[in-house]
Amino acid sequence: PAAVIVGIDGPSGTGKSSTSKAVAAKLGLRYLDTGAQYRAITWWMLSNGIDVEDAAAVAAAAGKPEIVSGTDPSAPTITVDGADAAGPIRTQEVTSAVSAVSAVPEVRTRLTELQRSIAAAAPQGIVVEGRDIGTTVLPDADLKIFLTASPEARAARRNGELKGKNAQDPADLAATRAALVKRDAADSGRKTSPLAKAADAVEVDTTDLTLEQVVECVVTLVESRR
Ligand code: C5P
Repeated sequence: PAAVIVGIDGPSGTGKSSTSKAVAAKLGLRYLDTGAQYRAITWWMLSNGIDVEDAAAVAAAAGKPEIVSGTDPSAPTITVDGADAAGPIRTQEVTSAVSAVSAVPEVRTRLTELQRSIAAAAPQGIVVEGRDIGTTVLPDADLKIFLTASPEARAARRNGELKGKNAQDPADLAATRAALVKRDAADSGRKTSPLAKAADAVEVDTTDLTLEQVVECVVTLVESRR
C-alpha cells in the first residue's frame, strides 16, 4: 500500500506520545515527536544564553542549531549539533521556556520544513505528533486525530511519568495541573499555528480510556482509510 500519514495533535498529557509510538509500531510506520524538536531548539537557546522572552533574539538564532530526529518508534532519538538531547529536553527549565520559543514564527517555519521533509522521506508512512500537524504541517494527512482529556486526568498522567512525583499527592497534582493549563493556554493563544483541532480531525476523549483502547481506536481508523 501507499505510504500512510497520520497526524496526532492535542494538549499536553492526553497520551499523544504513548499512543503515537504504539500506533506506529503496530503498523510498521516511522514516528516523529515534533514537541521534542521544539524542546531541543529551546534547550539550545537556553544553553547559548539567549533570552527566550526576546523574540527577536530567538528569531535571529532559529536557524543555528542542527536538529536531528531518529524516527524508530521503539527507540526515538533527538540530537542537537550532534549531542544527545533526550534527557536535557525534559527538564523543568525547558518545559517552562518552550511555549515562548515555539511562538516565534521563524522557529515554526524552520521546524515545519524539517518535519515535512522527514514525513516525505518515510517509505511506509509515519505517525507525527504535535500541536499543529493537522492544521499546518501536514494538512493532507490521511488521518488526523485530536486527543483530549480532562485536566485532572492529564495532570495525573503527567505526574505518573515524572520520576519522584507522587501522583496521589493533591498539592503536587494541583501544581502539575496549573502548569499544564498555563502551557496549553499559551500554545492555544499564540498567533502562528496555535494548538487547534483541524476541521477534519477525529476527536478522541481519552479521559476514561486505557492506552490500549486509544491505540486500538486509532489503528482501526488508519486501517479503514488505507
Ligand atoms: O509535546 P510536548 O509537550 O513535548 O511539546 C512541548 C511544546 O512544544 C508545546 O508545549 C508547544 O509549545 C511546542 N509544540 C508546538 N508545536 C508542535 C509541537 C510542540 O508548538 N507541533
